[in-house]
Amino acid sequence: MSVAWWIVVTVGVTFGTFGGDVAAVQGAAKSGPLYHYEYSRIQEEDQRWKCWNEGYRPPKATSNKVHELGNGTATELQRILRFNQSSTVLFMFSSNSDNQNLHNECTIEANKLVRLTLDNAGLEKLEISFPGTENDCRLADLSVPRNRLTVVPLGLERLTALRKLDLSYNLLESFNLNQLAKATGIKQLLLSHNRLESFLTAELIALDSLHKLDISNNRLRTLDATLWNLPRLETFHVDHNRHLATIAGWSRVRFPLVKGFDPTGTNNWNQTWLKSVQ
Ligand SMILES: *[C@@H]1O[C@H](CO)[C@@H](O)[C@H](O)[C@H]1NC(C)=O
Ligand SMILES: *[C@@H]1O[C@H](CO)[C@@H](O)[C@H](O)[C@H]1NC(C)=O
Ligand SMILES: *[C@@H]1O[C@H](CO)[C@@H](O)[C@H](O)[C@H]1NC(C)=O
Repeated sequence: MSVAWWIVVTVGVTFGTFGGDVAAVQGAAKSGPLYHYEYSRIQEEDQRWKCWNEGYRPPKATSNKVHELGNGTATELQRILRFNQSSTVLFMFSSNSDNQNLHNECTIEANKLVRLTLDNAGLEKLEISFPGTENDCRLADLSVPRNRLTVVPLGLERLTALRKLDLSYNLLESFNLNQLAKATGIKQLLLSHNRLESFLTAELIALDSLHKLDISNNRLRTLDATLWNLPRLETFHVDHNRHLATIAGWSRVRFPLVKGFDPTGTNNWNQTWLKSVQ
């Protein structure tokens, strides 16, 4: 890639007709490669309301939307991700570059954002960090797929308004379902394509609205559903956990909406167990 840029720079300088593009490319050559980005941000000036409610839309009179796309250096992307959360209610970032060399971090502030998406942002650290024992009652959608998070975001248990949590395509090794005990309205939990060796439930958890749970493409050898109270669970992906033979506590009566498991699938199903739950 750097060879290609060098050629563009040379040609540009030779003919002197590339204007701003050449300056941009030369700037990039000095400060490293360029990464594609695209983001949308909605700011809302009137921040007197506190908690998010189903059906919320930023009022037109007091909100404005920014949408930008381009190619930026790592530093420029970092600056984009450090947007001011005080007046922002929605921030959606995505990139289609290979972001192995981006090393980003994000700290979520209390009761500001309603929706945060950071897709393929080179995110290595994510924290939900605010003082005291306050919980967050605004963040309804936290989607950070295709990053390099090795641990679940610190403070996750303080998010009480979550409807969707997407941590797929990261490097997580364990997940404790009880961390979502206060997120009683959560509908989707997406954890596929991590390195999960454990998906734990230490005490009874009731998530009445959870209808989609994806823990496929991980490294689970054991799974225990005994303490799950998930009456609306309908879409349950657990394929591609190659050593998984059974799910303790699973039965059709407890999870009536789940259609069952593929007997010829990508797990190591104990066929006797499988027949007893299908
Ligand atoms: C970013 O760069 C790629 C090639 O490296 C180019 O195809 C694309 O059009 C650029 N995007 C923008 C928004 O400038
Ligand atoms: C962030 O936005 C708030 C509200 O608009 C403003 O008061 C504050 O000064 C901003 N902070 C920074 C660092 O720009
Ligand atoms: C397979 O499952 C059955 C029924 O749950 C159990 O009795 C048996 O021990 C299991 N076999 C192996 C090899 O784990």
